[in-house]
Order: sequence, then structure tokens, then C-alpha cells
Amino acid sequence: MPSSSRCGRPSACRSRPRSRKAVPTVSLDAFLAEIESLRADAVAALGVVADEASLEQARIEFLGAKSGRLKSIQKMLGGLSVAERPAAGKHFNDAKQAITAALEAAQGRLAGTAAEADAIDVTLPGDPLRLGHLHPITQTIRRVQEIMSRLGFESVDGPEVEDQWHNFEALAIGAEHPARDPLDNFYLAVARGADPLLLRSQTSTVQIRVMEQRKPPLRIVSLGRVYRPDTADATHYPMFHQVEGLLVEQGTTMAHLKSVLRLFASSFLGGDVHVRFRPSFFPFTEPSVEVDMEWGGRWIEMGGAGMVDPAVLAAVGYDPDQVSGFAFGLGVERIAARRYGVADIRDFYRNDVRFLEQF
Ligand code: PHE
Repeated sequence: MPSSSRCGRPSACRSRPRSRKAVPTVSLDAFLAEIESLRADAVAALGVVADEASLEQARIEFLGAKSGRLKSIQKMLGGLSVAERPAAGKHFNDAKQAITAALEAAQGRLAGTAAEADAIDVTLPGDPLRLGHLHPITQTIRRVQEIMSRLGFESVDGPEVEDQWHNFEALAIGAEHPARDPLDNFYLAVARGADPLLLRSQTSTVQIRVMEQRKPPLRIVSLGRVYRPDTADATHYPMFHQVEGLLVEQGTTMAHLKSVLRLFASSFLGGDVHVRFRPSFFPFTEPSVEVDMEWGGRWIEMGGAGMVDPAVLAAVGYDPDQVSGFAFGLGVERIAARRYGVADIRDFYRNDVRFLEQF
């Protein structure tokens, strides 16, 4: 009888003819010894595998379908007497289960190690978040509001989509005025027969909205977007921002207007700023002026201003004999560009972080 250990090795078995008849007879004791030593070897080996390659190697050695050690022992079952086979089969199945369990445990252990390697280490310092800041135009708007509030001007808002009354008519811009030209405004598509609507072309609309709602005395500023179909260049953009100021009180004069503008400009730009008025025309102010400011030796045109036209006061139900007022409108991009030394207002809207980071 060949020793059972000879057949315990796949190489030994493989060298034998593969016919049923050729299965050597084996005793139950020998079989059990063989299966127990396999179980011990396998559990020990699988218990210490440390990487995928050695796990696979162990799997093939013990559980390989063709020439694994378990397979060789399975073949030995045929060499047992029929009476011994049920007991031997049970041991065989137990051992197979134990080895499979050890394999699965090893697989789980390695997967766990891999997951651990991928896991976030919460004790490491994090990637710092890149914090942004307010856009320079928003910063400018807030700064203007803050300075004007110190001069007693309340900040108010108005809609960007306007009707003709607020954008033109109440401001004494008549039906024939070129400022109403469709080519100079963004009119919106409205239902046939409905009143025309447009993106407001100036913040003077807010003067009307506030005066319609309230009685004098009034001191308000309104800062917001306005729209004109201009071709973008260094000083124009189809969307830009204006500061609108309005003061209506008994006895208001151009001297008050100039003082407020000068105080504002000195606070905003810092230092001594000169304000110059040049005669001009706006339908809703009389007299009307262009406002220039000199700062650091340069004069810049900042916007328009004037005394509120009596026709406008009447349009909102005020008595022009009782109150007077002044209004001004300045370009936010212009004063921001002046303050920060920006040569091209398009830079404000290019969204280039390298530009925006500087403010
Ligand atoms: N709304 C005028 C403009 O857009 C500016 C302005 C405002 C002029 C208030 C006078 C008074 O050009």
C-alpha cells in the first residue's frame, strides 16, 4: 500500500494514471491525518498572508480546482472502503469549510487594509478653502452707501425692468425725445397692446418711485444696474451702475448740491477733491450740469446733476412753489476706476481672478 503522504502532494497524484481503478486504497486514519494536516497548513498560511499575491498563491495551493491540495485529498476518498466514506466525507467537508472561511477572512482583512489606506485621516490638516471677497463694484456700492448715509441719505432700491412713465415720462422725457429711441434702449418683448417695458437706462427712475410714495423732506440714494446698448470699450459697457442722489427740502439750492458732492468725493477718494460744474441739459433738472471731479491732478467727468425740474415735482404731486430739490447721477464704474486706478472698465466684468484678487 503506498503511503498516504505520497498522494498528499499534487505532484505525486498527478504522476499517477487518472483512471478510477488506479486510486490506491487508503485507511481512514491515514485519510484523517492527511485532511487535518491540510487544514492546519491552510489555516496557518491564510492567517498570515499580507498581500494580494500571496493570498492568490495560497488559494491555488489549497483550494485550486485542478491540483490544489484539497482536490488531491478529495481524490483519496475513492480509496476508502464504502463503509468509511460517510465519516471521511464529513471530515473532508468540515475541512473544506474551515479553509474557505480562512480564505474569506484573509480576503476581508486585505480589503480592510486597502480601505484603511484610502480612508481619510481626519487628524491631518485640511486643504484650506479659497475664500473670495466682494466684487470691487459691490465694495464701491457699499462704500458709497455708507458715506451717503453719514450725510443723511437713505439707501433705496428700484426695479431694473421699468415702464415708460418712470424711465421717461415722469422725468419730462417726452415721446419725441431721442433718449427713447429703441436703438438706445433695451425694450422688452411684451404682449400686443401692453404698455412697453424696458431695462431701465438710468437710476433717475427711483427718484420718481420714491417721490410718488413719500412726502418731502427727502434724502435718498439709489445704487444699481442700468442698461444701454452701447458697444463695450474702455469707458462703456452695455450694463453699468449708477448712484442716484435726491434731496428735496424747502430752500434747497445748487450750493447744497455742490457741497454734498464735494463731501462725498473727498470721503470716497480721500483728500481734497475739487468739484466742477459745467452747464448741461437734462429734461428732468433745471438748471442742469455735468459734474467733473479733480483728484490727483486729473479732471474726470463723473456724471450729471441739477435742480429737480418743477415739472417733475408736479408730476409726482409735489407743489413746486413749496419745495425744491437737487438730484445727481454718477457712474459707479467711473468712480471705482478713478479710485482704484483701473484703466478699462471692462476689466470689472471679465471675471479674471488675477484682476479681482487685487481689491
Ligand atoms: N440720469 C442721468 C443720466 O443717466 C444723470 C442725472 C441724474 C442727471 C440726476 C441729473 C440728475 O445721464
